Amino acid sequence: MAESNGGAQSRAVRLAARPDGVPGREHWNITSEPVPTAGPGEVVVRVDLISLDPAQRLMLYDRVSYAPPVQIDQVMVAGTIGEVIESQHPGFATGDLVSGWLGAQEYAAANGDYLQKLDRDHPIEAQAGPLGMTGMTAYFGLLEVGALQEGETVVVSGAAGATGSVVGQIAKVRGCRVIGIAGGPEKCAYVVEKLGFDACIDYKSEDVDEALGRLAPDRSVDVYFDNVGGEILDTVLLHLNMHARIVICGAISQYNTEKMAGPSNYWNLVVRRARMEGFLVGDYGAKWPEARAEMAGWLDEGKIVYDANIVDGTIEDFPDVFQKLFRGENLGKLMLRLNHG
Ligand SMILES: NC(=O)c1ccc[n+]([C@@H]2O[C@H](COP(=O)([O-])OP(=O)(O)OC[C@H]3O[C@@H](n4cnc5c(N)ncnc54)[C@H](OP(=O)(O)O)[C@@H]3O)[C@@H](O)[C@H]2O)c1
Repeated sequence: MAESNGGAQSRAVRLAARPDGVPGREHWNITSEPVPTAGPGEVVVRVDLISLDPAQRLMLYDRVSYAPPVQIDQVMVAGTIGEVIESQHPGFATGDLVSGWLGAQEYAAANGDYLQKLDRDHPIEAQAGPLGMTGMTAYFGLLEVGALQEGETVVVSGAAGATGSVVGQIAKVRGCRVIGIAGGPEKCAYVVEKLGFDACIDYKSEDVDEALGRLAPDRSVDVYFDNVGGEILDTVLLHLNMHARIVICGAISQYNTEKMAGPSNYWNLVVRRARMEGFLVGDYGAKWPEARAEMAGWLDEGKIVYDANIVDGTIEDFPDVFQKLFRGENLGKLMLRLNHG
């Protein structure tokens, strides 16, 4: 990265201390440094949207995972969307809209090879949601890992969230019966009335076991797309059809505890000759263009709808906005839009 850009400053969120539980303001520092200039092969991006993702919480543990832990004083890792303000890369020009892992900061210089140019045919909310990382997670998790077949019964947790909302709608496009699981009556009403799921279980006020017995009688769940882990995963395991597939996408209920609780009902995988498989959306990177094209078609036809939960603020708001994920305060994709003043 080269030096500075006309004396302007760029603020960044850095990890100050490793949290025990949900991170609070005290776990972050906001620092300021000159806006960088582009070195050879680099572009400088003004970050407009910072993505808030549950997996960021996992990066705060000092342990081996699929991504290296964020170090103390390091700029917080985050997906971003922004505009190129300077380019020394042949593939990018000033004014291009790009996405990439530029971190929780106002401006960043990065090697252009690691950035994706975004079209302006779809609104930024769609680029951040169904056409972005969480939409791709829904697509590959359900269709490739879940090997979904027409007419099957699908259960998805985190149903009103960025990933879950798209999972259920893809399953409807594929002619399946879909049961969502979400927190609270408003979210459940949204999932059924706006997203078109067949039913939704409010795990905060309903008995999930009883509800699944009623909505998917005689153990008829063919695919369970798991975003939350914990007790909900354990309960769904009691309702599997023969040869069911459990897609382990995430386990947000366990992210704020050092030691995750595993499912005690896993023996049902044997009883029902079922399989449970984890995946990472990044592994499907080579296939993203074709998945995005299909998703864009569904959006244009109105078969998939979305709500982006974009919070307008400044970089100082990152700590509070991040907490919303764990309080269930988001509907659809949670993003922080930076007001650059
Ligand atoms: N494998 C991959 O490649 C990949 C990629 C992207 C995301 N993921 C995973 O997919 C899951 C969803 O991510 P997202 O970005 O789409 O987030 P999201 O669903 O938009 O937001 C998180 C939601 O999780 C629910 N939640 C929070 N705490 C919970 C708890 N203790 N028990 C049950 N539900 C809880 C909340 O909804 P309620 O109000 O309904 O509780 C909250 O709105 C996460 O587990 C994430 O790590 C995996």
